[in-house]
Amino acid sequence: MTELVPVSFAETDLDALAAETARVAVFVPAEGTLNPGAKRINKLTKGALARAVESEAFEKLKSGESLSLSYPMGMASDEVIVVKLARTAKGLEARKAGATLGKKVGKAGLAIWAGSQSDAAEIAFGATLRVYTFDARKSKQDSETGGITVMAAKPAEVEAAYADHRAVAEGVFFTRDLVNEPANVLTTTEFADRLIAMKDLGLEVSVLEEAEMAELGMDALLGVGQGSESPSKIVVMKWMGGGDEAPFAFVGKGVVFDTGGISLKPAGGMEDMTMDMGGAGVVAGVMRTLALRKAKANVVGLVGLVENMPDGKAQRPGDVVTSMKGDTIEVINTDAEGRLVLADVLWYTQETFNPVGMINLATLTGAVIIGLGHENAGVFSNSDALSAEFLKAAAAEGEGAWRLPMGPGYDKLIKSRIADIKNTGGRPAGSITAAQFLGRFVKDETPWCHLDIAGTASVKSATDYAPAGATGWGVRALDRLIRDGYEG
Ligand code: BES
Ligand code: MN
Ligand code: ZN
Repeated sequence: MTELVPVSFAETDLDALAAETARVAVFVPAEGTLNPGAKRINKLTKGALARAVESEAFEKLKSGESLSLSYPMGMASDEVIVVKLARTAKGLEARKAGATLGKKVGKAGLAIWAGSQSDAAEIAFGATLRVYTFDARKSKQDSETGGITVMAAKPAEVEAAYADHRAVAEGVFFTRDLVNEPANVLTTTEFADRLIAMKDLGLEVSVLEEAEMAELGMDALLGVGQGSESPSKIVVMKWMGGGDEAPFAFVGKGVVFDTGGISLKPAGGMEDMTMDMGGAGVVAGVMRTLALRKAKANVVGLVGLVENMPDGKAQRPGDVVTSMKGDTIEVINTDAEGRLVLADVLWYTQETFNPVGMINLATLTGAVIIGLGHENAGVFSNSDALSAEFLKAAAAEGEGAWRLPMGPGYDKLIKSRIADIKNTGGRPAGSITAAQFLGRFVKDETPWCHLDIAGTASVKSATDYAPAGATGWGVRALDRLIRDGYEG
């Protein structure tokens, strides 16, 4: 797994600034007041810092943005990074400033003068999230970066506050690595193996193989994988850190590669479908975080791992399959495969665990990208209460999410002439008809949300917290949802 940047915490030491060889970061509020660290740097550089702070460039910076003094005289460091940030900045504002710095950790590392900043732990978290490069598939791992030192007035307190953040960052990195991996590496078997390895963290992990799934009647899921050489699997991860209450459940779409099947996708951009296991990746990342921070909650995470390939054995458009629930499905388009996988995993999850709440994540529809772009995931729910809880958690973590409607009126679009339901409803409201389809496999009494993350799981240009590629979107929001609502 891509390792987190090492972060250490130290007392502030003004006299050490001149000889510091790492890049040095200081925070200056919009008013321009210099804290003791900034004052010392200003003195060492014979007033260069004050000039920078009085400049038009500094004035134009938004909170959390920075400018740099290169090769400052009087200092061993090759760069002083001046970040505009109020001393009292907290939460996401501080986190974002940290992410700005994460981009600037050089070979020599980064020394952050946090002094008496209100939320140094968030600054460190933001930086940690941003120091990520996926270079596992390069022949040379040359993206060498040094460590981060946070110099704070009360380093022990900051370090304690940072500990849980680090568990979250590890979950996010785990998700990003899974999503960034190519499909010849991350086969269903390799994916399952990486989840089984999380037993070391105290998670219970078990795998349903094809024979057992066939026994259970999961022909909707099995139909999707039947054209692939890789065996379909469901991996069940359990974290029972709570009491004897029923668990909360996360369910993920894990299509390790989506060619579309016999309804083959066009060649252009098909390579992006290595990320079609993004939902499963987020579920895995959250479970890792919960285990690492020993969450006092009962949570199960289930992922349906399949590969959607065209083949002599592949399912055909027009095939009718029977789901574990018993409902029959006419497969109009083999490229609408995610919902077929989820139908059986959702049903199995409810039958097995009777969860207090269930959230599934899936890179389900291109249509959600048309509607919401890459800024927000689509949220669909049968519960105003659960969707409000989730939206609150997502907002608190700065992860975009927007609720879209569901309703029985849409069901006529997925009525089948020969089966109980069909798997596509044409172009109108494509994300909603997908959600309606899933809703059919959710019991009335299960509070449920479906998160369509096709636009947010992986992006073509860098975000505040991640370089281009996998974002890890959702790990933070779901961890927060559990923390705020389901921990004793
Ligand atoms: N995995 C895709 C959806 C997708 C598209 C994810 C773009 C990420 C980026 C999904 O399996 C799919 O192919 N959906 C079809 C559904 C259609 C056939 C009803 C789509 O969105 O075109
Ligand atoms: Mn598809
Ligand atoms: Zn897909």
